[in-house]
Amino acid sequence: MSLDSTQTAPFPIPANIFAETVTEVEHYTDRLFRFRMTRPASFRFRSGEFVMIGLPNAEKPVFRAYSIASPSWDEELEFYSIKVPDGPLTEHLQKIKAGDTVLMRKKSTGTLVVDALLPGKRLYMLSTGTGVAPFASLMRDPETYEKFEKVVLLHGCREKAELAYGEQLVAQTLADPLVGESAQGRLEHYTCVTREEHPRQMRITDAMTSGRVFADLGLPPLDPAEDRVMICGSVPMLHDCRALCEAAGMTEGANNAPGSFVVERAFVD
Ligand code: A2P
Repeated sequence: MSLDSTQTAPFPIPANIFAETVTEVEHYTDRLFRFRMTRPASFRFRSGEFVMIGLPNAEKPVFRAYSIASPSWDEELEFYSIKVPDGPLTEHLQKIKAGDTVLMRKKSTGTLVVDALLPGKRLYMLSTGTGVAPFASLMRDPETYEKFEKVVLLHGCREKAELAYGEQLVAQTLADPLVGESAQGRLEHYTCVTREEHPRQMRITDAMTSGRVFADLGLPPLDPAEDRVMICGSVPMLHDCRALCEAAGMTEGANNAPGSFVVERAFVD
């Protein structure tokens, strides 16, 4: 349920913004946390999209793009966030607790949606760090399994502890009453760690260009006729993953012109 904004914020809230109530917060490491909040009844989005999030702590709140990590059918909204030291939003956002108010602009958008991809056989979701968030939404959406035979989530992090959110989500997805059965045997989770000892101590891009990921999962190399790719991570990661797709002969898609791969644009411009 959406709260009356005048009761929860010291400043009047514009008509294009929802004021929602935090229901749950979980910290994974000193850099990463997730939170859930109420979902306004009128708010619709496509799994994989992002919204602008802020706090009611200033007359002109700072807003940042956040991928919605919950699927479009969920009755609440979930977000996964990094804690940026002295970050204008996250230095405050990391302190939120259940009952606090979070602001959200009413319009969601984004390119990491299945509509921006041509039909295909396998969907590769390439992520680093908090870039796993839109895939947390997509991996729990039944439409993903209607459109693809195989769904492969690649997640690269600096340290093992940073993989916890993705691991928790995949386990939840496989046990989920709505999508669990569809996901079993079809959702693959492939993790890499770069700054700590790990069986796959490498970047996800290296796991792909070396062919290691395909060999480990028993899948053919990237094939523009059958494979589709979604990419979300830091700007250098987006750049390298795009190059990797282009080298495989893939073309970039958009909402109005579906292609064989899509790149998150939320943090690029
Ligand atoms: P590395 O430790 O070699 O920098 P971050 O938290 O900085 O976003 O990094 C998350 C993960 O993404 C880290 O494992 C990091 O590896 C990796 N990474 C950084 N840049 C790239 C890139 N250009 N391509 C693929 N992975 C990258």
